[in-house]
Amino acid sequence: MDKSQYEKYLGDRWHINISKNEGVRIVDGQLVLKNGDKKVPIVNSIPRFVERENYADNFGLQWNKFRSTQLDSYMGKPVTADRFWKNTKWAPAEIKGKAMLEAGSGAGRFTEIMLGAGAKLASFDYSNAVEANFKNNAHKGDLFLFQGDLFDIPFDDKQFDFVFCYGVLQHTPDPEKAFYAIEKKLKPGGKISIDVYHKDGKIRPWKSKYIWRPITTKIDPQKLLKFLKYFIPVWLPFDTAIKLIPVLRNYLGAVIPCWNYFYMDLSLKEKVEWAVMDTFDVLAAKYDIPMTMADVDRWFKNCGYTNYEVFEGSNGIVGNGIKP
Ligand SMILES: C[S@@+](CC[C@H](N)C(=O)[O-])C[C@H]1O[C@@H](n2cnc3c(N)ncnc32)[C@H](O)[C@@H]1O
Repeated sequence: MDKSQYEKYLGDRWHINISKNEGVRIVDGQLVLKNGDKKVPIVNSIPRFVERENYADNFGLQWNKFRSTQLDSYMGKPVTADRFWKNTKWAPAEIKGKAMLEAGSGAGRFTEIMLGAGAKLASFDYSNAVEANFKNNAHKGDLFLFQGDLFDIPFDDKQFDFVFCYGVLQHTPDPEKAFYAIEKKLKPGGKISIDVYHKDGKIRPWKSKYIWRPITTKIDPQKLLKFLKYFIPVWLPFDTAIKLIPVLRNYLGAVIPCWNYFYMDLSLKEKVEWAVMDTFDVLAAKYDIPMTMADVDRWFKNCGYTNYEVFEGSNGIVGNGIKP
């Protein structure tokens, strides 16, 4: 990012001290709040508004190890694009040239879609997954990427035309507060789309994680990942057989955790890679707090929305709204 991008997003509150640049791109340096309150290092072209190590380290490990796995451009299939457009119900033409905020971008599979549609995108993640996103997407459009915490976003309120946040709220210590924290960055008349894991009281294969998480969240993430890289390729054929048995799959499948995408149009190699990655994702994440439809409905009402919808989407509950 160059100096003008910093100024565009952060306003004039910060001094920018540059210690290394490549052309106009600032590679290393420091942002200093003009009132002297805060210093933010810029490392590897990314400003770091949070400690480099934090509760989302497992995600940093995951997204840097599986940097491209879920990117449509890598797979050559519109898996993420389909999820994005189907769930947000936005159209490419309406986000073109608009100011968008993406909270919790991981390796940037959705970043790629929004940049591809011509959005002016500010995107961040709490973990060093931002390094993966930088490698994947920095060259693909108008992107202001930073390492930051959604509970302390360094922008003015009501700054964005669109706010997008998928797969993130449940992985924070307080999904409801997290929703309010990102929602307040949206302009009146702007659109927000979030999704969050669904708490519905039913027994389902993916809920096997809750049996194991009390143990797996205490294991060193490197060791857990090593184990899954060995275990998943061996277990996947058995898991697929179980998940093809009607009714029983919900119960048998709910014992051994395995994120099995047997129903998707992926090669065997991709199925294994996605299964290792997403099984690690759900077993290692420090927080996993699913929500009910009524919870999400209440969040929108509490923010004064009248034009919104809450429905079962591709990966849990989706909430879409237009800010009053
Ligand atoms: C399951 S990943 C989803 C990533 C991406 N949205 C996707 O769907 O590919 C959840 C992400 O939320 C990020 N996250 C968790 N807490 C956060 C916070 N307080 N602020 C910003 N990002 C956070 C994690 O670091 C992680 O990359």
